[in-house]
Amino acid sequence: MSTQPGPVGAPADVHRGAPEGEPLLAATDLVAGYVPGVDILGGCNLVVHPGELVGIIGPNGAGKSTLLKALFGLVSIRSGSVTLKGEDITNRRADSLVRHGVGFVPQNNNVFPSLTIEENLQMGVFQAPKSFDERFEFIVDLFPTLGDRRRQRAGSLSGGERQMVAMARALMMDPSVLLLDEPSAGLSPVRQDETFIRTRKINRAGVSVVIVEQNARRCLQICDRAYVLDQGRNAYSGPGRELMHDPKVIELYLGTLATDVEGGAESA
Ligand SMILES: Nc1ncnc2c1ncn2[C@@H]1O[C@H](COP(=O)(O)OP(=O)(O)OP(=O)(O)O)[C@@H](O)[C@H]1O
Ligand SMILES: [Mg+2]
Repeated sequence: MSTQPGPVGAPADVHRGAPEGEPLLAATDLVAGYVPGVDILGGCNLVVHPGELVGIIGPNGAGKSTLLKALFGLVSIRSGSVTLKGEDITNRRADSLVRHGVGFVPQNNNVFPSLTIEENLQMGVFQAPKSFDERFEFIVDLFPTLGDRRRQRAGSLSGGERQMVAMARALMMDPSVLLLDEPSAGLSPVRQDETFIRTRKINRAGVSVVIVEQNARRCLQICDRAYVLDQGRNAYSGPGRELMHDPKVIELYLGTLATDVEGGAESA
């Protein structure tokens, strides 16, 4: 079984392997950019169904972060649409999206270093402060460390721990979908693994997740489905483990050396 080559061909191929039914989040033919006249996204498509863990991989500069930022109202969408549970949310402001169930964890500067863990989590729920206790309980259930160390300043934590706080902060508003931009970046391999395990744990707790990753193999291992973006367009899509073994995806995006060294095993 081979994955569908891009750029996007027949629309039916774009979301290969996606479940039937109404998506939770859908981006259709997104065109977006920063500078007038320069489109970074040239017609991107993405769907996330309830309960899915969806990966986005692709080379540097492909537009992965731009796609997440466009979904979260931080980059203006020039054409195309975004829907959440069937409702149009194109170009909706980030604070409104948070209230409607979209969480976003940017790659950098995603915690308040001078605040404690608990204060960071309070910031996550400033739009609904009364729900703090209930949400904090949920978070501590998921990540007990954060409860034990609630009075510790976020700035004194390791990179991996800070990522955990950033994810927890976004989870405080009980999002139905969480957008994560490269949560494993800059971490040691062991800490990267912990981040992927944590991501899956969040997903198994019922939160749909979109995860952008440089560590493409790990990402494909944990996600249900993935999209490969290249130059602002969909290049390939399909179930994570199928993409991981697709010769074209390996050659273009994963690197054949890794496959040779590992003998094609998934134990990377
Ligand atoms: N704030 C900005 N202003 C102008 N151009 C930008 C801005 N941010 C990103 N770009 C440009 O948009 C393109 C896509 O960048 P983006 O950050 O979305 O890529 P990416 O796939 O996330 O890459 P990486 O893997 O390096 O994180 C790049 O050419 C980049 O230079
Ligand atoms: Mg990026």
